[in-house]
Amino acid sequence: MEDSIEVILQDKSSPLLHRNQFNPRLSASSGALLLGLYGVWRIFALPGFRKIPTRLKVPYLPSSKTQTQNVLRLLHGRRGCLADLGSGDGRLVFAATSVGFQCTGFEINSILIGYARAKAWWKGIPTSTARFVSEDFWKTNLSNYDNVTVFLAPGVMEVLGEKLEEELPDDACVIACRFPFPQWAATASEGFGLDQAWAYDMGAIRKTAHTH
Ligand SMILES: C[S@@+](CC[C@H](N)C(=O)[O-])C[C@H]1O[C@@H](n2cnc3c(N)ncnc32)[C@H](O)[C@@H]1O
Repeated sequence: MEDSIEVILQDKSSPLLHRNQFNPRLSASSGALLLGLYGVWRIFALPGFRKIPTRLKVPYLPSSKTQTQNVLRLLHGRRGCLADLGSGDGRLVFAATSVGFQCTGFEINSILIGYARAKAWWKGIPTSTARFVSEDFWKTNLSNYDNVTVFLAPGVMEVLGEKLEEELPDDACVIACRFPFPQWAATASEGFGLDQAWAYDMGAIRKTAHTH
């Protein structure tokens, strides 16, 4: 009788024991999956970053459709040259060209630059309308642009605001996606939450700066 109870207990606990056992195949596949995801993230988010100071690094994250529509609403009635700082796969640039802007996308990730250029070629958009340059926008003078769009990171907005205030003409308009400029008052805003975008009038910003 004692023997049979032991046998029964052993039988009942065996599935539990098996469940808790180390499964080398499962661990190997999860490891490979994580490594693959890290590889994809490295390829798309990091190229070109080596020369940029850590506090100014911004990884790739594409704009949502709603975010892009909010940007276009804020740009309504404006025209001329537009610079997208960190143009990613070019989606904001393509949206802005569709409403008449001559755009330049600044991007340091060579894979994204290649992709955006190929997409422009595929869409039949000439480089006079949409240009993608492999350039660090921190090292570029932006005084020739009447319109600037940015979708970057909260940590760089204040420093970028200082640069734009030094370089842009008075009639320039700056649109910030998701992360507003902490030191500036926006003239308009569209959308909510992650899709929100803010518009800033450079002339108004300079006036407020001088009156304070
Ligand atoms: C958040 S993504 C936005 C991409 C795109 N504008 C969009 O709305 O889908 C930021 C992009 O900025 C690029 N970037 C970051 N720092 C840069 C720099 N100093 N010069 C040029 N591009 C930069 C990144 O490689 C990334 O593609």
